[in-house]
Amino acid sequence: MAGQMKKILVIGATGQIGSELVSHLREDYGENSVIGTYNNTDPSGDLLDGPMEKLDVLNAGRIGEVVDKYEVDSVFHLAAILSAKGESNPQLAFKVNVMGTFNVLEVGRKQQLNRIVIPSSIGVFGPEVPREKAPNETVLRPTSMYGVTKVTGELLGNYYFNKYGLDVRGARFPGIISYKTLPGGGTTDYAVEAFYKAIEDRHYSFFVREDTRLPLMYMPDCTRALIELAQADLEDLNYHADYNVSSLSFSARDLAEAIRKRIPEFSFDFQPDERQEIADSWPNSMDDTPARKDWGWQPRFGLEEMTDDMIDKLKEKLDEHERK
Ligand code: SER
Repeated sequence: MAGQMKKILVIGATGQIGSELVSHLREDYGENSVIGTYNNTDPSGDLLDGPMEKLDVLNAGRIGEVVDKYEVDSVFHLAAILSAKGESNPQLAFKVNVMGTFNVLEVGRKQQLNRIVIPSSIGVFGPEVPREKAPNETVLRPTSMYGVTKVTGELLGNYYFNKYGLDVRGARFPGIISYKTLPGGGTTDYAVEAFYKAIEDRHYSFFVREDTRLPLMYMPDCTRALIELAQADLEDLNYHADYNVSSLSFSARDLAEAIRKRIPEFSFDFQPDERQEIADSWPNSMDDTPARKDWGWQPRFGLEEMTDDMIDKLKEKLDEHERK
């Protein structure tokens, strides 16, 4: 089914996930077959090896125009406001996440796209859900605006599939850990910041309690999950916009200790702020049996491998930065 994706648009290409997904897709599909879009952050580095367009997801006409210009058949829609930023500006989160998604789906329907992939999130879950192994099929009553918009995105995606036959796919991602581009405004950002601070300052104050345990995933697993889900045979899919995908689950203290094992001078403390409430409303882990059964999802990085790789790559990156 990979053949059905020939010209791919990645909306939100300068974000944490987009900046890495674009290079993977360009390796598989060719530099000029993957078009990235950005809005607030200008593209740099290898993103400029192929086409890039400025685009605001609130401008449906502009999305349609770019789809037309490059004869796009498939879209990865990654532009979104994350959970913590969404709580400080719920109106903006609603607009960007819900109206942006609606605009992309409408372009998909009108311009008959083959496939639209929209990541969902652990943010869809609320306090009623079992803390351990939150099932794929469960009550979705999130308490953050981010969660509300992500449930809406899932429901819309499934609606467009059932009503119009538009092939919309999505997975509920845990917090994503990566070294290339920083996440912005998420609750799980501590799991990335801790690495930067450990290398640069040898100290980090976590903004959650030490026993806060959340589902997390290393970026190579995340980009692979997105691509494998996009390439799966439609007939194999029993879900569409709402697959749980699980990988790691560890507490803030577990992470701090894993980093200290490799950087012994690293010191840390825990000073929970308003983001704690969001973290407390999410489960510790997810059950992703349907993703494993339907499209063979299998994470590769454990806590130790992720921590080794993250420290190596981040040191390399920060050294290079200093040399420039
Ligand atoms: N990383 C996201 C956030 O914290 C969760 O999807 O908002």
